[in-house]
Amino acid sequence: MANFPLEPFRIKVIEPVHCPSRQERERILLDAGYNLFNVPADAVYVDLMTDSGTSAMSDNQWAGMMVGDEAYAHARNFFNLKETIQSIFGFEYFVPTHQGRAAENILFTTMVRPGMSVPNNMHFDTTEANVAARGGAPVNLVIKEGLNPTSHHPFKGNMDVVRLDRFIQDTKPENIPVGMITVTNNAGGGQPVSMANIRAASAVYRRYGIPFFIDACRYAENCYFIQQREDGYAQKPVKDIAKEMFSHADGCTMSAKKDALVNIGGFLAMNDVKIYRDACNESILREGFPTYGGLAGRDLEAMARGLWEGVDQDYLAYRVAHTRYLAERMLEEGIPIIEPPGGHAVYVDVKRMLPHIPQANLPGQALSIELYREAGVRSIELGAVAFGHADPDTGEMVYPELELLRLAIPRRVYTQTHLDYVVNALAKIRDRCDELRGFRITYEPLLLRHFTARYEPL
Ligand code: F0G
Repeated sequence: MANFPLEPFRIKVIEPVHCPSRQERERILLDAGYNLFNVPADAVYVDLMTDSGTSAMSDNQWAGMMVGDEAYAHARNFFNLKETIQSIFGFEYFVPTHQGRAAENILFTTMVRPGMSVPNNMHFDTTEANVAARGGAPVNLVIKEGLNPTSHHPFKGNMDVVRLDRFIQDTKPENIPVGMITVTNNAGGGQPVSMANIRAASAVYRRYGIPFFIDACRYAENCYFIQQREDGYAQKPVKDIAKEMFSHADGCTMSAKKDALVNIGGFLAMNDVKIYRDACNESILREGFPTYGGLAGRDLEAMARGLWEGVDQDYLAYRVAHTRYLAERMLEEGIPIIEPPGGHAVYVDVKRMLPHIPQANLPGQALSIELYREAGVRSIELGAVAFGHADPDTGEMVYPELELLRLAIPRRVYTQTHLDYVVNALAKIRDRCDELRGFRITYEPLLLRHFTARYEPL
């Protein structure tokens, strides 16, 4: 039997939750057009839709919100955040943003022109869409083990550096305004990237003079995996591992809603003053003055304090073990998942769980709907809906290699009982998964269709 980790905290404030009846859940699904983004949060019992912005803040973070300095320019909290970012990430400059995709928007708006390409191990949905929205091509070059749900490679998020080098030669460096790596690789199962791989990818980008930016949302979880799995790092504090990791990059985009343990916030950081100045101008246009970037002073303070809590050894050991507990319980019940589990979520391998539903009939979406119907548990599809797209030349649908249902775990929020409840619901669905049928899309927008699409059962 899997072990639940000891929590390095106790509960001071609670939030009531309630599970609607099965009949109510049926009606809610119908009203929502079978899109779980449309389901009212009050009608969800365990919400594993995302780990983004859903963390419980600490008493220290809440206390920090009371010392928010709401001056328009150069508030005291900006300086606290600046010191923290320089200390953990080591970058010279940064611009706060209201969340990660705003940092992506600023970066790609200032750097990407139509026809250019941006390589990454795997782009997450908003990153992919922000590159595409500037007329660029997002290109995924993860190692082949990263697309194999049963491979036990310790760093399945690694970039295929040989393919990266070849891709840059074929595309020509002048057509690649920026290169990225996402840590951990959210679109590929939350898998970590090794320090050796960061170093090697950085060397390739630098050889061709391409600025290298890390998509850093879950950098602390990634650095914890480096400490646990990579030779030479066992004795190093996560903070020092992070400093080394970012020393190989020219900047990063950050959604503070993940490893900075806040409900809203992010930043774009860099060393190059020209990139910084362009970012400031873009920020003033869209986000706010570059010392607050669309956030209140109190949000900057909660972020600064949360960044420190996010690299705490006890917290990270608990965090990763909490996720592993859910994964191990699911494996005990014979639910196929991406192995080994990543830091922030457990991903059901839907192709193995529902082999009778082809990707064109949206099996991941079908499973997420069934999990809500069964137990009031909200998850998210990361498969044919989130990453499927029509080929621009042939118009034919292209589906991603991995068809996943992600159970993302909010930080410091759910207990062992909550996780056991989710596993029991999945086990019930597993017993009758032959009965599940696919879905059809009845409405979809041009970009990021999973957020607003509507569906009907086949
Ligand atoms: N990059 C990665 C790897 C992400 O996972 C996300 C968000 C973003 C960028 C964008 O950050 O939401 O603050 O604008 N991921 C969330 C998720 C939404 O559910 O995985 P954001």
